Amino acid sequence: MLVPVALSILLSGVLSGSATLTRRATTCNGFSELCDRSYGNVSFVGAHDSYAVGTNNLAVNQDYDVTQQLTDGVRLLQMQALNNSGTIQLCHTSCLLFNGGTLQDYLTKVKTWMDANPNDVVTLLIVNINNLAPSLFGDVFSNVGLDKVSYAPKNSTTAFTDWPTLGSMIDSGTRLVTFLDNQADLTSVPYLLDEFTNVWETPFDVTTEFDCSVNRTKGDSSTQMYLINHFLDMVVLGNPAPNVGAANVTNSLSGTNSLGAQVDLCVAQYSRPPNFLLVDFYEYGGGSVFQEAANLNGVTYSPTTPIAQPKSTSSSASGSGQSGGSTTTGNGNGAISGSHGVASLLVALSVLLGAFTVV
Ligand SMILES: *[C@@H]1O[C@H](CO)[C@@H](O)[C@H](O)[C@H]1NC(C)=O
Ligand SMILES: *[C@@H]1O[C@H](CO)[C@@H](O)[C@H](O)[C@H]1NC(C)=O
Ligand SMILES: *[C@@H]1O[C@H](CO)[C@@H](O)[C@H](O)[C@H]1NC(C)=O
Ligand SMILES: *[C@@H]1O[C@H](CO)[C@@H](O)[C@H](O)[C@H]1NC(C)=O
Ligand SMILES: *[C@@H]1O[C@H](CO)[C@@H](O)[C@H](O)[C@H]1NC(C)=O
Repeated sequence: MLVPVALSILLSGVLSGSATLTRRATTCNGFSELCDRSYGNVSFVGAHDSYAVGTNNLAVNQDYDVTQQLTDGVRLLQMQALNNSGTIQLCHTSCLLFNGGTLQDYLTKVKTWMDANPNDVVTLLIVNINNLAPSLFGDVFSNVGLDKVSYAPKNSTTAFTDWPTLGSMIDSGTRLVTFLDNQADLTSVPYLLDEFTNVWETPFDVTTEFDCSVNRTKGDSSTQMYLINHFLDMVVLGNPAPNVGAANVTNSLSGTNSLGAQVDLCVAQYSRPPNFLLVDFYEYGGGSVFQEAANLNGVTYSPTTPIAQPKSTSSSASGSGQSGGSTTTGNGNGAISGSHGVASLLVALSVLLGAFTVV
């Protein structure tokens, strides 16, 4: 029976050949349903000032570091990067006010997490405070090895309908998307994309009611992905500062000024959900921000392990080395935790005075 044997050898050759040629992700960002979905047709939870981590510190927007953020489901990491004596560092306005460490140390954590989670697409949004050349960021990405997993588009501008599927990004191993708010140049670094020609944003540093107006863009908002700045600030000594006392409400699914309410407003206005939901203290609300994204994505949110618990519940100051009240930079990074009350204000005042003395 030569023919069947030959046929079966031929068939097994074809089958094993195709198996080694194509890897097909069956779970993408935690859900099989998302593999065939375009990146531009998925809603991701983002951590605002993801490096600004601490407890009872006047300069923080998050309780947990980037590794825990990713583990809990955050998939957009926003950060401010600046030149601190020749090193790219993650700071608030000035590294004297808040120093979140070097970009390289931060990206090393991202790389470690991504290596351990090969079926996840992650996005970085870097606010390039000092208008540094993209090659300087590229050097850090190469040092860490993130250049190898970075997605480089064919066009500098991609309509929200034209992004590849999460599955294809995972299959090709290029599953990190990075936006710079300025200076992006694909001819210099092909995977550092320009934010505002690809994404528009709602207003930031909102202290009253969230709306869904197009606040910043450099392109045609009707074809771009969009990001909602859903972190509530309060004004402390003339500066916007995270309103952690309201975070449970701000992050919740329904109610006045909730995440759910802003999303509903946006969907009513544009007939499509936001791509990125940028929040402070993401774990406030007990996972509501991830539930909201899951609802938009049409999947069931059921984490295998419970997400982290809120930490920033005290209004007293810590003696941490990282401290400082931030000043406004034009990019939504106020910095007073600990919420309302005279104690907080006194702490804020003393730290601001201290910071100004240092400066
Ligand atoms: C994805 O596209 C479908 C069909 O256009 C739409 O109903 C859904 O709201 C979109 N989801 C997201 C998260 O963009
Ligand atoms: C970074 O800052 C240092 C001074 O602290 C300066 O000498 C250097 O030129 C700066 N680098 C860039 C690329 O701006
Ligand atoms: C690139 O841009 C051209 C022209 O604008 C468009 O036809 C093409 O579909 C785009 N390709 C991708 C991958 O977005
Ligand atoms: C954007 O929002 C800020 C407040 O966050 C506001 O001051 C500014 O006027 C807005 N710009 C546009 C173009 O809507
Ligand atoms: C937020 O909600 C958590 C869990 O319900 C609760 O423990 C915490 O006290 C709340 N924080 C504030 C500031 O309301």
